Amino acid sequence: MNQDAQLKQIKQYVKDLFHSDATGHDYFHMQRVADMARQLAREENANVFICEAAGWIHDIGDQKLFEDPEQALTEMNEFLYAIGISKEVLQQIQRASKDVSFSQGKVPRTLEGKIVQDADRIDALGAIGIARTFAFGGVNGQAIFHDTHKQNTTIQHFYDKLLLLKDTIHTSTAKEIANGRHVFIEKYLEQFLKEWNTNI
Ligand code: ADP
Ligand code: NI
Repeated sequence: MNQDAQLKQIKQYVKDLFHSDATGHDYFHMQRVADMARQLAREENANVFICEAAGWIHDIGDQKLFEDPEQALTEMNEFLYAIGISKEVLQQIQRASKDVSFSQGKVPRTLEGKIVQDADRIDALGAIGIARTFAFGGVNGQAIFHDTHKQNTTIQHFYDKLLLLKDTIHTSTAKEIANGRHVFIEKYLEQFLKEWNTNI
């Protein structure tokens, strides 16, 4: 099976796993991260196939999303072998996807890992990032905001995490995109707080 055919199979595998997610980690998040990772890889002269494949599978085995993360990873590895991905390529894909998570605070060692992390973080910014954050907050029973008890509200998450993301981006191509989406979030928060405080 050639790499295009393998990517098609991976796409279908990811669709089956994430099609009904409502927390912002749906199939379309995986698609955007894979597409962005492919574009960044071209710009940054990284391995395009590894970046795209790792973009597709980067949330498989996430503790928040899987009841049995280890089992999900084992099944994924078996699937990747079954579609003809070699041990060496599988290791490269694993390396590029395992350190992506913000909450784990890791810096990927490979350029491909940095690119997938950048692509995932870009998807947490801008208009899409705002939508995903409220979706996540809603599913997890979080309040939108609170006058005095701001902790654990979705708006507080913007300050705790989203506004910090642009300074954690590795590649220059991604930095430019992230900066634009950061400014959009700042404007959104400004407007949100204005409406919250004055109702105008
Ligand atoms: P990572 O997988 O990199 O650790 P997360 O899964 O924490 O990142 O974040 C993915 C998405 O979920 C982002 O859009 C983020 O804003 C949203 N999210 C994570 N935690 C919260 C939270 N406490 N409140 C609202 N949104 C959240
Ligand atoms: Ni993700």
